[in-house]
Amino acid sequence: MFFRVASLLLIVTLLGCSAQNLDLLASITSSTGQLLGGITKLPLVRQITQVSGDLLADTVNLVTTVPLSLVRSLGVSYGFPTLVSDTNSVELTNRIINEFTEGLSNEDINLTIIDLVSKYGYPIEKHMVETQDGYFLTMHRIPNDNASAVFLMHGLLGSSDDWVVSGPVSALAYLLADEGYDVWMGNARGNKHSRFHNTFDTSEADFWDFSWHEIGIYDLPAMINYVLLATKSSRLKYIGHSQGTTAFFVMASERPDYNNKISLMIALSPVAFMNHVKSPIVRLTAPGAPFLHNIMKGLGLYEVLPDNAATKLLRQLLCRAERLAEILCTNFVFLALGFDFEQLNVTNLPVLYGHMPSGASGKQFAHYAQGIVSGDFRQFDYGDMVNAVVYGEKRPPSYALENVRAPVAMFYSEADWLADPRDVNQLYNKLTNVIDLYKVPHEQFSHLDFIVAKDFKTLIYSRIRKLLWTFQKYDFE
Ligand SMILES: *[C@@H]1O[C@H](CO)[C@@H](O)[C@H](O)[C@H]1NC(C)=O
Ligand SMILES: *[C@@H]1O[C@H](CO)[C@@H](O)[C@H](O)[C@H]1NC(C)=O
Ligand SMILES: *[C@@H]1O[C@H](CO)[C@@H](O)[C@H](O)[C@H]1NC(C)=O
Repeated sequence: MFFRVASLLLIVTLLGCSAQNLDLLASITSSTGQLLGGITKLPLVRQITQVSGDLLADTVNLVTTVPLSLVRSLGVSYGFPTLVSDTNSVELTNRIINEFTEGLSNEDINLTIIDLVSKYGYPIEKHMVETQDGYFLTMHRIPNDNASAVFLMHGLLGSSDDWVVSGPVSALAYLLADEGYDVWMGNARGNKHSRFHNTFDTSEADFWDFSWHEIGIYDLPAMINYVLLATKSSRLKYIGHSQGTTAFFVMASERPDYNNKISLMIALSPVAFMNHVKSPIVRLTAPGAPFLHNIMKGLGLYEVLPDNAATKLLRQLLCRAERLAEILCTNFVFLALGFDFEQLNVTNLPVLYGHMPSGASGKQFAHYAQGIVSGDFRQFDYGDMVNAVVYGEKRPPSYALENVRAPVAMFYSEADWLADPRDVNQLYNKLTNVIDLYKVPHEQFSHLDFIVAKDFKTLIYSRIRKLLWTFQKYDFE
């Protein structure tokens, strides 16, 4: 089964290519010889080849250059972090390999979030929340009685683990708990902590029929209501990363009464408009993703990256065998989002790899991919005919961002491969209640750095702390 998932993922990556991306990768050169043989022998690839003709050969060439160029990026290449020059790349390579190897013996790699948080001396609770449409979601809480509740919502392929994996020195959940906040961490339907439904099983298509639209209109409201009830508060502070911001904007647009339950929303790397996404893999994949989502569904594959097993095969197929390539290519999440070597805690990388990715529905990817192609922030596109039935018109309706009335603080960075500053600016212009727009003062700050950067405390947390403090008084009115 996992092999099928991995093959499909590979094909998703392969077929997603289109001519418009050629120039993006034109400047990356590499030799892909032996890899090609292995890939084209896969039965599923052969099957798809019959459909797609010559496209495959070209695409395999392009796609395999991406991970290789990651390694090359230690020198110079297009679009990748180039903090390091050719001259010191050997030293850097050795340093990364040594730190990573040291990190491999860290027992945190295999600890669950409950054991991890307990190990570092914090209380931890687990709560179950049922949504209006029957999903059971797990919430984790580091309790602080009678304190302001802060709700943390992870990104695509993430989980509540994201907020603790970088350890007690830098992880947001611990920093907030130290500050005296009541920390609640959500989990979207379909991730490793939220895999139950009152009718459907995860092996059934119906379970996976959701994107971040449903996370926004069902999951967030259910979890927010639960927290408000449990803490006897009328409002909470919301901090989201990436998809955790997308789903929030969906909720605040589609269910505007929920704006009253949010005293402050902090958007770490806000994702709504996606015209300018930089990630080569994401751009390559986007044009074909909705099409492939259909193929995948046809084959009974609804879930993307349930664990690291699929990623391992992907890596074997796409990455070179040498040690550094292996380290960098191990995790699809990093592969797609890029590395910021200055902020990457390499010693902790094995722990991150042990806790993410956490699973998501193929439809979540397809919905994002549609946004990259359409340039709009709008509901899922089922094609003209089905749209007419579902929405009463051929085009999916855009989200009414003018409904977002909760105060929003936006954190973004120049080098973010997903939330490009130009897209963040477009969102900023649509929102009417942005109270802070903060560009992280670190040039190579990456999408994942918003949760795992070495300097998280100084670059991100110090600002969060001030914002929370400023809006402190509004929660128990
Ligand atoms: C974590 O678990 C894996 C698989 O059971 C094992 O091979 C590895 O040695 C463990 N690592 C640590 C640091 O405990
Ligand atoms: C929280 O408030 C309740 C009711 O005011 C009080 O009984 C309880 O002792 C408080 N708990 C803490 C930890 O301050
Ligand atoms: C980097 O990771 C190590 C190992 O997990 C951890 O002990 C250390 O505190 C981390 N550094 C920072 C700045 O978070």
